[in-house]
Amino acid sequence: MKTATHVGAVLPKSPPGLHLFRFCRAEACQSMGCDTIIRHVENRLGVRLGETTENGEFTVDQIFCLGRCTASPAVMLDGNFTVA
Ligand code: FES
Repeated sequence: MKTATHVGAVLPKSPPGLHLFRFCRAEACQSMGCDTIIRHVENRLGVRLGETTENGEFTVDQIFCLGRCTASPAVMLDGNFTVA
């Protein structure tokens, strides 16, 4: 039996919301302050990494390297890169 995996992906703690934020937390992005941005978004939305807002609108998740290290900190929203 084969199991599909994605290196660096972390399973969310709750069902996914309508929109998915994925914050890179690997070394390059950590050195550029990703944790500060993550804390801001968590506080703004009232959730922690892996959780979905009560209204089901947003899920905040983490990943380890999106391949955009030179443009760190890297963030994806609904599969598209955004500027952090
Ligand atoms: S370390 Fe964040 S994109 Fe590579």
